Amino acid sequence: MKRVVIFASGSGSNAENLIKFFHNIDNVAVIQVMTNNPRAKVLERCKRLNISALAFNRVAFSKSDDILNILKLQNPDLIVLAGFLWKFPNFILDHFNNRVINIHPALLPKYGGKGMYGMHVHEAVVANNEKETGITIHYVNENYDEGAIIFQAKCDVLPSDTPEDVASKIHLLEMEHFPIVVNDLLNE
Ligand code: GAR
Repeated sequence: MKRVVIFASGSGSNAENLIKFFHNIDNVAVIQVMTNNPRAKVLERCKRLNISALAFNRVAFSKSDDILNILKLQNPDLIVLAGFLWKFPNFILDHFNNRVINIHPALLPKYGGKGMYGMHVHEAVVANNEKETGITIHYVNENYDEGAIIFQAKCDVLPSDTPEDVASKIHLLEMEHFPIVVNDLLNE
């Protein structure tokens, strides 16, 4: 059985989509969801979906070995960042070399880096009159949004599109592709 741990900071629509997708896959299980935000909506989703969820603080995550030790025990084949907004500490990355991936709501290397998340990304895309945008799934390394790219998918941005319109298009791309890319990686 392949084991997946998801990190999420907010709504958790990607986390829920991954959990539901892997409910129907025999050899993969989402065993744990982790969040830095005790008020994150993802916690409600986990309760409803009967998935173990854990909220942690900065000390546990990056100033001690607490979360690292939990992850070592859980021994995931893949750690999936699905809307997770804290920088992933290098000492955890070192332990899970090439086993941490992230989804970003733009076509990296464009619109990446610190502060580029969620609606900020879509607002910048519209402000710059981009003709297209998309999603990027990539390995996580020591720099925000700079790890090797695994997968990208594109959508058009129309002159009339608002940042909310772009967010809806990105959401559809994420729902369609993210579980399949995760599943493919696990079966490589
Ligand atoms: C997603 O669009 C994801 O790509 C983005 O946050 C959203 C989370 O939505 N991630 C980033 O911006 C990371 N820089 P969700 O909580 O509903 O899955």
